[in-house]
Amino acid sequence: MRAQTKIPPPSRQRPPFRTNGERGESYKKPPKRTPVSTSDLTFTNRIRDKHTPIMSTGAGKTVCVTGASGYIASWLVKLLLSRGYIVRASVRDPNDPRKTEHLRALDGASERLQLFKANLLEEGSFDSVVQGCDGVFHTASPKELIDPAVKGTLNVLNSCAKTQSIKRVVLTSSIAAVAYNGKPRTPEVVLDETWFSNPDFCRETKLWYVVSKTLAEDAAWKLAKEKGMDMVTINPAMVIGPLLQPTLNTSAAAVLSIMKGRAKDNGIHALERFLSHQEMNINKMTSVYLEWNSVFDLASHI
Ligand SMILES: NC(=O)c1ccc[n+]([C@@H]2O[C@H](COP(=O)([O-])OP(=O)(O)OC[C@H]3O[C@@H](n4cnc5c(N)ncnc54)[C@H](OP(=O)(O)O)[C@@H]3O)[C@@H](O)[C@H]2O)c1
Repeated sequence: MRAQTKIPPPSRQRPPFRTNGERGESYKKPPKRTPVSTSDLTFTNRIRDKHTPIMSTGAGKTVCVTGASGYIASWLVKLLLSRGYIVRASVRDPNDPRKTEHLRALDGASERLQLFKANLLEEGSFDSVVQGCDGVFHTASPKELIDPAVKGTLNVLNSCAKTQSIKRVVLTSSIAAVAYNGKPRTPEVVLDETWFSNPDFCRETKLWYVVSKTLAEDAAWKLAKEKGMDMVTINPAMVIGPLLQPTLNTSAAAVLSIMKGRAKDNGIHALERFLSHQEMNINKMTSVYLEWNSVFDLASHI
């Protein structure tokens, strides 16, 4: 029997984000937060309670969320509205109730949610969406990989670059963009903000999602630097937690497949490829270490 390899998860060692300022500099430990008892709170209240001291108030501020109907974006919209922000949310089809009904039903939506039609693949499509915004959360991601992912990201960032009012852009990237480069990940290896996945290494191993996220984030950093934009990237692993939207996104579909014992469905194909690449066996999922992020923790970066 082959010995199982334990991969230390990168985000255990460093927070799953990086900023212009932090990139390449030595890591500073964040201040300790006082733990709160959460046993008697609902999920949404837990997040609000836990993060109230560090989250900014959004009263009078306008932010844009791209791909707002998506899993992570829907939670972002919910939390932003709950903090008082005016949210300009982009969807591809504002007339599709499956994409918008759950957003329109959120607290504060009738007063402060504005829905816009925008497509990543149309140049300038986001110009009017980001107009007048203080910040932009870019989460939209096309199903078609690589070229559309890079072009889509650049389209959104180019729209942001034309807008003077934007103070910061937050790009939802992925652990995929940082963790796959063939370097050893043994306990003594320090992973930091300088780590990127190696596109050639990932092409060889046919990790196309990893290639697309790596190229998209790389292109985003180059453009942000060129335009002098303040950008932060978030690099989550598999994101789990309740869905607000009525449809399954990739990570939820993967969890459902595991629960139904159909390990080879949907997103699990990709998972299987990188596990096999790590010399692990998908059939031994119970003993394999995977990195997961709670959608609450992720969305609370506002
Ligand atoms: N979920 C995870 O486990 C996970 C982990 C790491 C990183 N991420 C990253 O986090 C981001 C959000 O992930 P998610 O799971 O929340 O995704 P999701 O639920 O699939 O949402 C993606 C959104 O992108 C939008 N979109 C797709 N193609 C588009 C296009 N051509 N133009 C405009 N919008 C388009 C879709 O909008 P419409 O509904 O309007 O079509 C959809 O709402 C992605 O960048 C993903 O790579 C996710």
